[in-house]
Amino acid sequence: MTNTLNFEKACQILSCGDLVVMPTETVYGLAADATQGMAVAKIYELKSRPSFNPLIIHVDTLDHAQQWGVFSEEALKVAEEFWHCNLSPLTVVVPIKKDTLLSSLVTAGLESVAIRVPSHPVALSLLKIYQRPLAAPSANRSTHISPTTARAVQKSFGRQTPFLLEGGACTIGLESTILDLTTKDPTVLRPGATTVEMLESILQKPVRYTTDKAIKAPGMMKRHYAPNLSLRLNCLQPEKDEAFLGFGDQGTRKPDLNLSAKSDLKEAAANLFSMMLALDRAPFRGIAVAPIPFYGIGVALNDRLVRAATPSDPLPLGDALHPQA
Ligand code: TXA
Ligand code: MG
Repeated sequence: MTNTLNFEKACQILSCGDLVVMPTETVYGLAADATQGMAVAKIYELKSRPSFNPLIIHVDTLDHAQQWGVFSEEALKVAEEFWHCNLSPLTVVVPIKKDTLLSSLVTAGLESVAIRVPSHPVALSLLKIYQRPLAAPSANRSTHISPTTARAVQKSFGRQTPFLLEGGACTIGLESTILDLTTKDPTVLRPGATTVEMLESILQKPVRYTTDKAIKAPGMMKRHYAPNLSLRLNCLQPEKDEAFLGFGDQGTRKPDLNLSAKSDLKEAAANLFSMMLALDRAPFRGIAVAPIPFYGIGVALNDRLVRAATPSDPLPLGDALHPQA
């Protein structure tokens, strides 16, 4: 487990411009000092990530977040609520503060910046000790399944795995909700555990899903979160040679793995990526997934599944969430 020496070593590595893997409550992150361009470039290189795809910066408090982004009343409201009170994973996209020392590689040249305060104690301790923002996408090769355990990170990067702070299995298991507050109406770019309903109840106004066709969040790219085997969704039973990933009571049909036998969507979210990884192997030739209800964090679960199963061009989030629209 992570101790003081590990934190010291992680800080040394980061200040020298190298990468560290840190656990967060959502997924493990591949962290670099966001003020060092060369360090941030290493994230893109190790992940083989397209450079047009900007990164989230992680800080320890709303106060620190305000050094890097301009927070409107609305941004302050949601940040206070979800970063400091009812801890629920939220990234806000806000205008970037002028003349900051943030590497332009972090924002991929945009005039806005995505910021979040994670709630995982290891990530928070690292940020408190390091005192500089950390750019951190999920710690996996681009388009692959996001890691929710240290083992999954090691599986993705093998011997290239950077220094890793161990933090157990991620409790949420899906990436943070991304809320864009630079548009006229607050817009969710990527659904997550912090639902539209939760955001609307704090903002007291409608929050919409993006219908923008431009790639603004990684979840809008083709083959994101994808296993190697093909994925079939909303299946009541598997074909021959398919693995079956169940949800809820499957009666007498025994699934190979069950996201949540008691139909708990939070448990299913925490299990999704690790179970997809576990079934992504011979002798299976595909993975069939049981239907997942479309409410609460089920919206984010279905979003990840649709994208993992869709071998097509970038999909606007609104279309992915409402395929019939
Ligand atoms: O839960 C999470 O958010 C995880 C953990 C490690 O914190 N991080 C994560 O980062 O999922 P990443 O890089 O995979 O997703 C961040 C996405 C970017 O790819 C990008 O599309 C969007 O956030 N983003 C970043 N800056 C943006 C901006 N200025 N405008 C719009 N979208 C932005
Ligand atoms: Mg990712």
